[in-house]
Amino acid sequence: MYLLPVSRLCYTATIMNKPDLIIHNIGQLCTVPSHAGGPQRGQALGDLGLVEDGVIAVSDGQITFAGPAEGFDIPLNAMTLIDAEGMAVIPGFVDPHTHLLWVGDRAAEFEMRIGGATYMQIMAAGGGINNTVRHVRAAPVEQLIAETRPRLDRILQLGSTTVEIKTGYGLDTESEIRSLEAICRLDAEHPVDIVPTFLGAHAVPPEYTGRTDAYVDLVVNEMIPAVAGFVTGYGYSMPFIDVFCEAGVFDLAQSRRILEAGQAQGMPLKIHADEFEGLGGTKLAVELGAVSADHLVKTPDTDIAALGQGETVAVALPATPFGLGHHEYTPAQAILAAGGALAVATDCNPGTAWCESMQFVMALSARYLKLAPAQALAAATLNAAFAVGRGGRAGSIEVGKQADLLILAVPDYRHLAYRFGGNLVKIVIKAGKAWHS
Ligand code: NIG
Ligand code: FE
Repeated sequence: MYLLPVSRLCYTATIMNKPDLIIHNIGQLCTVPSHAGGPQRGQALGDLGLVEDGVIAVSDGQITFAGPAEGFDIPLNAMTLIDAEGMAVIPGFVDPHTHLLWVGDRAAEFEMRIGGATYMQIMAAGGGINNTVRHVRAAPVEQLIAETRPRLDRILQLGSTTVEIKTGYGLDTESEIRSLEAICRLDAEHPVDIVPTFLGAHAVPPEYTGRTDAYVDLVVNEMIPAVAGFVTGYGYSMPFIDVFCEAGVFDLAQSRRILEAGQAQGMPLKIHADEFEGLGGTKLAVELGAVSADHLVKTPDTDIAALGQGETVAVALPATPFGLGHHEYTPAQAILAAGGALAVATDCNPGTAWCESMQFVMALSARYLKLAPAQALAAATLNAAFAVGRGGRAGSIEVGKQADLLILAVPDYRHLAYRFGGNLVKIVIKAGKAWHS
């Protein structure tokens, strides 16, 4: 199913400084305000800035008003007028951690896992990430784009208006650059805003088996400079750099080396930490000033305490333990008690969690991270925007921000965490343009 522009309901002459979109009759307007220009930290998570009977005005794709309808005169020269019919309106979801760019199929591995094999056993036997790597290495850039585009279309329909996408299925310089090119081209052509991340250190490729340090040398000496040269040459912004810091993949010292090399080229930092074992990756992230530390299932107490002291956003990925059939989730309550900033993401990937829906992530967050619906919503919007360095323009319905909004099909935002398995988004507004399914 394709997204279609909403028909314009009211035409008049365009007059400078007059809104080009008004949304009125909003039953619950959840603005999810920034706190002191930053994310909602610790127990302050869940401030929705809720307005009943609200109205939003948009000009040139930006929010110019968001507040109570009382006293607000709806300008009759607005280009488009949308009646929200008493439903809830929330910020567009920000999905701050995905591996959305892939080709190939891993359904057989899922069946093996259900039969008892573990994710790390499949990876050690040459499957897992390296299975997808074989397909990505053989795929031209057009195929990478063509197979990822429908996933992005579905993600937009499900309400994600900004999405981070990692490389990491190429694992040689040429295939990593080709993956990054596909991500940058998708960003240019698709309404969803894409935040690119270079994840050359996602796994050790087969030709480097048993020689992890030599592969780290390749990432540091060849791939990172090539990535920096590529984005500079084409005028793209510098991507994030990420590393899978995990027993049997990249240890703490190797992870530090890779992150520091990326940082030296001006790349902001992310890390996959504590997914299966706690190696100290979260503490390293805080020490290096990483923008986010992600997964955080086996996170030691000292690392949780560090999150409360630093700026690094903790990104929980509850679809991953769910997808693996595991029973242990991110210690979200401890992170909040320590004063940390918590966000949630899908981790959408072909191995552990093919989940395209931040709505489903909210439902999992309520049940397994014990987040109240309001906390899950703030973690999936405002805090998620800060987890990809986009807190200044996305994640909340505040004057001056990009008009990325969702008109829900329900009058109460709590239905997002309560119900699951469907799509409760009726209309997606991306940069002021309305789309419905
Ligand atoms: O975040 N942990 C590492 N990477 C992904 C899985 C990628 C894959 O299996 O293809 C994750 O879960
Ligand atoms: Fe991941």
